[in-house]
Amino acid sequence: MSSTTTLLIKQAQILLPDGNLSLGDVRIEGDKITQIASEIVPRETDKIIDATGLTLLPGVIDPQVHFREPGLEHKEDLFTASLACVSGGVTSFLEMPNTKPLTTTQAALDDKLQRAASKCLVNYGFFIGATAENLEDLRSAKPACGIKIFMGSSHGALLVSTEAEIEPIFAKGKRLIAVHAEDQGRIIERRRQFAGISDPAIHSQIQDEQAALNATKLALKLSKKYQRRLHILHLSTGIEAELLRQDKPSWVTVEVTPQHLLLNTESYNKIGTLAQMNPPLRSPENNEILWQALLDGVIDFIATDHAPHTLEEKAQPYPKSPSGMPGVETSLALMLTQAKSGRCTVAQVSNWMSTAVAKAYGIPNKGAIAVGYDADLILVDLNNYHPVLREQLKTKCGWSPFEGWNLTGWTQITILGGQIAYERGKFNTEVRGKALNFTE
Ligand code: DOR
Repeated sequence: MSSTTTLLIKQAQILLPDGNLSLGDVRIEGDKITQIASEIVPRETDKIIDATGLTLLPGVIDPQVHFREPGLEHKEDLFTASLACVSGGVTSFLEMPNTKPLTTTQAALDDKLQRAASKCLVNYGFFIGATAENLEDLRSAKPACGIKIFMGSSHGALLVSTEAEIEPIFAKGKRLIAVHAEDQGRIIERRRQFAGISDPAIHSQIQDEQAALNATKLALKLSKKYQRRLHILHLSTGIEAELLRQDKPSWVTVEVTPQHLLLNTESYNKIGTLAQMNPPLRSPENNEILWQALLDGVIDFIATDHAPHTLEEKAQPYPKSPSGMPGVETSLALMLTQAKSGRCTVAQVSNWMSTAVAKAYGIPNKGAIAVGYDADLILVDLNNYHPVLREQLKTKCGWSPFEGWNLTGWTQITILGGQIAYERGKFNTEVRGKALNFTE
C-alpha cells in the first residue's frame, strides 16, 4: 500500500479524547487522521475497513521494553519483538540500554536507531544508559527518550548504585531520568543471608519491599534537590505507592506493569522461575494497593518491562535463572479484560497505555484519536474471549507468564502510520515504524 492511499474505518466504537466511546467512521490520509464523524461517505480511492463490533483505540505506547538487539538476539530481536508488538496492539516502544554493547554512547544509540529503521514494524525510542562515567553522553546523546539508571538489579557498567555516583547525574542536565529503584547494597546483603535456597519464591524475600523503598526514597530526594524530571519505573510495592501518595512532586511520574498488578508471590507455585523478575512480584495485598494507586492517579501509566529469556535459560535453578518475562503481546488484552470485568474503564486503560505515556515523554501527535494526529490505531474485539496460547506467541522466547488466561480485547487490526501492519494473525512485514520525537 502506498502512503497516499486513504483508509476509511467504518462503524467502529471510537474512543474519543474526552473518554467517550462513540460509533462512527475515521478517515486516514497518508500517515494522519484527517476526519472523524458519525458517518463519512466513502470515496473511490478509500480502502474500507469494516469495523462493525470492534473498538478503535490509539495504539499502545509501551514505555519500558528490553528487545535484546544488539548482542542478545537468541532471546529476541527488533523484528520478532515488533511482530509481538503489532499483534498485541503496541505501535510504539521505548527500549532499555542493557543490550550488548550497552547503549551508553551516541555511537551505540545510532546503531540501535539504524537497526530499528531497517527492521521494526513499529515506532521506536531508546534510552541512554547511565554509567558512573558517561555524564557527557547522558547530556548530549540524541534522540533519546531519557536516561536510564539501574540503581540496583544490574551488574557491570550499568549498575550505578551509590548516592555518590547517582547524585552527579541528577545534578547535571535537564532530561528525564528513569530509575530502576532497588537498593543494591541491601540486595547483596540479603543474597548472602539466603544463599543456597533454590526455591524461586526466595527472590521476593531477597529483593524485598524495603530494598525497593530505599531506592525510591533516594531517587525522590535527589529529584527534589535538583527539581529534576524523574520517572520511577515498574513500581512494585504498596509502601512505595503510599509514600508517593503523600509526596509526589509535579515533575515525577510513575509506572506499573500488568504483572505487578495481576501476578503475585503465589505465582511461583504455579510457574516457578517464569514468575521471577526485577523488581520481584509481591504479595496479593500489594496488587490491591497498586491498583488503587493507579486508579487514583498516584501511578501515571503502564509499561510491560518486556524482558524475554529463553525457556532453557529460565529452566536453570534459582538463582542461576535470569529475571524477566515477556509482555508486549498480552498487556493490552490483560488490561482490557480487567476493564470488561468492571475494575476500570476502557478509557482509563487507553489513557494508561497510550495517552499518558505520550504526555509524560513529550511524544507529539500520538496517544489520541483526533484530527491531525498520527494514524497509529488499533481495532480491538471486546466481545469475544480467547486464551493466551504458547503456540500463538510471536516473541522469540516463546512463552508467557499468562498462558491459559482467558482474555478479551485482543487486537484484530493494527494500523501503523496509516498502513495496516497486522490483521487477524497476518502481518505486513513491509511496514516500518519511525524514530519517535521527544520534546523536553
Ligand atoms: O526482570 C527484569 N529483567 N528486570 C529488569 O529490569 C531487567 C530485565 C532484563 O533485562 O532481563
